[in-house]
Amino acid sequence: MRKSLIAGNWKMYKTTKEARDYIHELRNADWDVDREVAVLAPFTCLTVFHEAREWSRVQYGAQNMSWEKEGAFTGEISPLMLLELGCKYVLVGHSERRQVMGESEEMINSKIKRALECGLVPIFCVGETLEEREKGQAEKRVAEQIRLGLQGVSSGHDLVVAYEPVWAIGTGLNAKATDAQEMCSFIRQALGRMYDQKWAGLVRILYGGSVKPDNAGEFMSQDDIDGALVGGASLDPAVFRSIVNY
Ligand code: 13P
Repeated sequence: MRKSLIAGNWKMYKTTKEARDYIHELRNADWDVDREVAVLAPFTCLTVFHEAREWSRVQYGAQNMSWEKEGAFTGEISPLMLLELGCKYVLVGHSERRQVMGESEEMINSKIKRALECGLVPIFCVGETLEEREKGQAEKRVAEQIRLGLQGVSSGHDLVVAYEPVWAIGTGLNAKATDAQEMCSFIRQALGRMYDQKWAGLVRILYGGSVKPDNAGEFMSQDDIDGALVGGASLDPAVFRSIVNY
């Protein structure tokens, strides 16, 4: 049985004060025990989640990390620093990091391996561009991202995959729930072929891209969609709460 995960990706939004107000707003929020709620916060806000860990039910993590544990890497953040602040998750390979920051498949693969070695759960993002979808290459592209991202990774780890079609991110154009299901099922089958069916059946696969309160339920009702990765709609605690209680 896969526990559903609703994760908010705050991207480069919120100061520590805003993070503190947000987490207090969610303090009395209720949700089913069969679902997990997490926020992927800017590095500077992680300390706020750490301070609230005794009473907050919200899991948390970072949006990026270095593939090295320490060293002369100005501006980078080590997985050990994230662990010290109680992070459970780390996003790896978000399309904004691939496209805007130029992250390569090789860098993404190194980050996934390092996160797993250190005991962080990677939320490994994959997804095709509009051009790739229009050319009928969406599955080919996603299969390639999965193969390269997981090179040298053994099965059995706690891993989350997020399918986020690039054209649906921040555009208000969500994928059709049935199309998202098709791709998530394709990802699960690919994992089954690369590893084993048993582990593939345990990996949680999320959909991300313009998830809102009025479409979350439809995505969540699909067999192979185990949760949502929510950008813009996770910034307002009341809106995020209604997605969590889809
Ligand atoms: P939006 O929900 O704003 O489309 O962003 C999706 C996303 O990139 C989550 O990682």
